[in-house]
Amino acid sequence: MSDQFAERLLRWFDRHGRRDLPWQQPTPDGGRDAYRVWLSEVMLQQTQVATVIPYFNRFVETLPTLRDLAEADEDTVLALWSGLGYYRRARFLHAAAQRCVAEHGSTLPRAIDALLALPGIGRSTAGAILAQSHGLRFPILDGNVKRVLARYHGVHGDPGKSTVEKLLWEHAERHTPAQRTADYTQAIMDLGATVCTRSQPRCDDCPVREDCVARRDGLTTELPTPKPG
Ligand code: ADE
Repeated sequence: MSDQFAERLLRWFDRHGRRDLPWQQPTPDGGRDAYRVWLSEVMLQQTQVATVIPYFNRFVETLPTLRDLAEADEDTVLALWSGLGYYRRARFLHAAAQRCVAEHGSTLPRAIDALLALPGIGRSTAGAILAQSHGLRFPILDGNVKRVLARYHGVHGDPGKSTVEKLLWEHAERHTPAQRTADYTQAIMDLGATVCTRSQPRCDDCPVREDCVARRDGLTTELPTPKPG
C-alpha cells in the first residue's frame, strides 16, 4: 500500500532530492553505514546541511568508526565539533558510542528501543537512522517535517504540544512507505528545508501542493502555529 503523498514526494526526490551527501554513500550490502548516518543526524539536529558537510568529513576522517569515537578523548571529540555549537550533542554522541562498545558489540543497535535508550537519540533521530541506514519503515518528525505535515493536513496548534505532536506523528506514520523508506525520509526533510520553508514557501514548486490544506485555505503563514508567548 502506498499513498499519493509518498508517491509524489518520491517522484520529486528523483528529480530534485539530495543523493550525494557524504553520509549517503552505500555500503556493500546496499545499506548505509549507521555510524555515519547517526553522526550526520546529530549534526543536522540544529545545523543546516551545507554547514554540516565539512564538519562531517573532518570528523569521519579523524574518527572513521564508532569504536574510534568511543576510544577518543573528549577533547578530541569537542575539537572536531568546535564551531557547530550545542556541545551537549558531542558529549552525548561520545557517551553513546562508549555504550555501544560496552553493550552492543561496537555497533549502533538496530532495535528502536535500544537506540532510544542512548543519550541524544530521540524518536525522530532513531527513525531517521533506521530508515536511512537499513531501510526500515520508521517515521521521522523533526522541525521541518512538522511544518510540512502541519501545513499539508491543516493541523492547528503548537506542534510542541503533546496532543498536536501526537496527531503529527500519526500522519508521519501513515505516509511513511514500506518501499524506498530511506529516499522518502530524505525527500520529506529536503522538501521542508528547500520548498516548504518557514517563511515564503515555494508552493509553486511543491509536489504535494494540490492536496495541501494550508495552501488551499491561504494559511501557509499561519501554520504551523507558533509557540505561545
Ligand atoms: N535534518 C535532519 N536530518 C537531515 C537530513 N538527512 N537531510 C537534511 N536535513 C536534515
